[in-house]
Amino acid sequence: MNKLCLLGLVVGLAFQPALAADVKSTTAQTKAAFISDLMKRMTVEEKIGQLRLISIGPEMTHEQIQDEMAAGRIGGTFNSVIRAENRPMQDAAVKRSRLKIPVFFAFDVIHGHRTAFPISLGLAASWDMAAIATSARVAAAEAASDSLDMTFGPMVDVSRDPRWGRTSEGFGEDPYLVSRIATVMVENLQGKDLAAKDKIMATMKHFAVYGAVEGGRDYNVVDMSMTRMYQDYLPPYRAAVDAGAGGVMIALNSINGVPATSNTWLMQDLLRKDWGFKGVTVSDHGAVLELIRHGVAKDGREAAKLAIKAGIDMSMNDKVYGKELPGLLKSGEVSQRDLDNAVREILGAKYDLGLFADPYRRIGQAADDPADTYAEERLSRAPAREVARKTLVLLKNQNQTLPLKKQGTIALVGPLADAPIDMLGSWSAAARSGQAVTLRAGLNNALGDKAQVLYAKGANVTDNPQILHFLANLGGDREEVEIDPRTPQQMIDEAVAAAGKADVIVAALGEARGMSHESASRTNLNIPEPQRALFDALKATGKPIVLVLMNGRPLTIAKELAGSDAVLETWFSGTEGGNAIADVLFGDYNPSGKLPVTFPRSVGQIPSYYNHLSVGRPVVPGEPTDYRSQYFDEENSPLFPFGFGLSYTDFSLSDLSLSSTTLKKGAKLQASIRVKNTGQRAGETVVQLYIRDVAASLARPVKELKNFRKLMLAPGEEQTVTFDIGENELKFFNAQLKAVAEPGEFKVQVGLDSQAVKEQSFELL
Ligand code: BGC
Repeated sequence: MNKLCLLGLVVGLAFQPALAADVKSTTAQTKAAFISDLMKRMTVEEKIGQLRLISIGPEMTHEQIQDEMAAGRIGGTFNSVIRAENRPMQDAAVKRSRLKIPVFFAFDVIHGHRTAFPISLGLAASWDMAAIATSARVAAAEAASDSLDMTFGPMVDVSRDPRWGRTSEGFGEDPYLVSRIATVMVENLQGKDLAAKDKIMATMKHFAVYGAVEGGRDYNVVDMSMTRMYQDYLPPYRAAVDAGAGGVMIALNSINGVPATSNTWLMQDLLRKDWGFKGVTVSDHGAVLELIRHGVAKDGREAAKLAIKAGIDMSMNDKVYGKELPGLLKSGEVSQRDLDNAVREILGAKYDLGLFADPYRRIGQAADDPADTYAEERLSRAPAREVARKTLVLLKNQNQTLPLKKQGTIALVGPLADAPIDMLGSWSAAARSGQAVTLRAGLNNALGDKAQVLYAKGANVTDNPQILHFLANLGGDREEVEIDPRTPQQMIDEAVAAAGKADVIVAALGEARGMSHESASRTNLNIPEPQRALFDALKATGKPIVLVLMNGRPLTIAKELAGSDAVLETWFSGTEGGNAIADVLFGDYNPSGKLPVTFPRSVGQIPSYYNHLSVGRPVVPGEPTDYRSQYFDEENSPLFPFGFGLSYTDFSLSDLSLSSTTLKKGAKLQASIRVKNTGQRAGETVVQLYIRDVAASLARPVKELKNFRKLMLAPGEEQTVTFDIGENELKFFNAQLKAVAEPGEFKVQVGLDSQAVKEQSFELL
């Protein structure tokens, strides 16, 4: 056994119980000593090799990759998710390379792995931290059992612009909600012991402010005030760091003119010095060389120099560090220290992952490899269904159209009613569409022979050749969208005929999953045209319509909303989506989701978000409306506000009271409110606490979410919900970017969405 393995084993031994701080510092010292010993024995070439993160793809054969690993020229990989494929790579690294340094295997595990959970935006709509924790734990365990060590997630970019396709991948518009979720995701992906066999490292992304790309156009620039950045966009990244995320992926955008990839302030001052981040940074795909296109580097050499000096430890899927760093080190433009800093973090990540102690801890033994990677028994269907139903948001339910009875005839129409691939949502490459339960299957499972389902596709998801071309080329998978060769009219006729025979129409409309994805920005947020024509034809039948939306972002659905009797937002709900939606449609589960994003009335209202700053000429109900901050052709209010979502029961709020009308610095007061289930069935709702700082040194938002509680109430049951309010809830970043709570009046608002609230005020002394 060589010295390295021995040290690794010692490191792997469990410590005796001791004071936590002592254990921590001993562990840190052991780790530091281990890494520094190893680094002393590494050549410059081996060090540079560690900085290379390759995508497993057609560029190199497996043999070439293994040779590169044996030569110590690769630090980690992503995009290979099969144990039998990763094992020979690890063999090459730990059996053939000089220093036997293991490689790690990463993948985009974003919402589930083999089992797709709802897309992140859907998870956020649950406002249920236990459910989100479950999704992360299952994802980590499934990924780890596929030999993965690391995910490029969670994506915690706040976005206020639904034109941006990656809205689907994030947790919505609110810094507080996204921060809470960021914490839960990191804690449950990584667990208490990152070296555990069922845990993987979280690489939070995209640092920073990627969700604010101008015009919602992917990869575009971000230019924003520092106060807005600190107040509204940075908190979730900070929360992920505080939760112990082992990695950070640096964003593709520039920030106030400086690309994130070459941004020393971002990676050194903010991330490492201010926030104390101690893990590894990775560039986004090809981002180092993109510094040339950003116009801040004249060539690859300069790009490599800027990136490593600013703090990019690993460069994703290019060879630029390998090519340029030797010369840059020789000339002294990059110092040995710059290189060592990066190498130390990469080795540190491998150490924390337990790979030095056992490089095969997640790869396992060949004899234990699953005979079928996609085997049904490897899926976690029960938790996926349980979580998915919590993510569905009931937006309208006129005349109690829902829940549907399990009897009679249901016309199920729409291009998304039976499209398995779309159930999975984007970033679900390890999941199989063949294992996804569509809405059609879900209805049939729920109904058996109790009722009849007449299915008709009714329309293609889109007939626009430009969009079809875009979707077909996404990931090179031409089967993304199945196009029915019939004419639109033939398809509509079939759907209308089905509707004619039915008691109710369930219309599954929205986007193909590829429309809410990376590089999938839209200028128009309507349901695509052929589906709208289908909707109009269905409406003309006079039958009740239940609109089941499937989409990865808020859509502009004013017309369809008006024409529907009930509307259920289902996002892309994952492997068990169809069963989960059926659970809600038939009332086997009472919907409890709340929107984590504002739904605008029109694209012209974007950016649409509830926590906007106060203005000098607001529109105030009951006051004259001329020369006010408004559009003359559209009201200011959104179609659905942040935090909105109905239930099959009703809830009332009453008696908001504060324990005091004044608050001393350092003390806390309590806001209490009575919540009652006034309806006929048990249900969950989310009580939301908002605070408004009435007068401060800077204009402050009209309200900001500061806490929430999801609770289940039996019919007639009443509970008092109490929130603590202290300085933390009142702080904001002032003009000097200091977090301060300024004395004065604060309004406390509590509601079941962000708009219909009860209000009280107090004074901070
Ligand atoms: C995306 C990242 C992702 C990476 C690796 C990039 O195109 O921006 O979010 O983690 O690819 O798949």
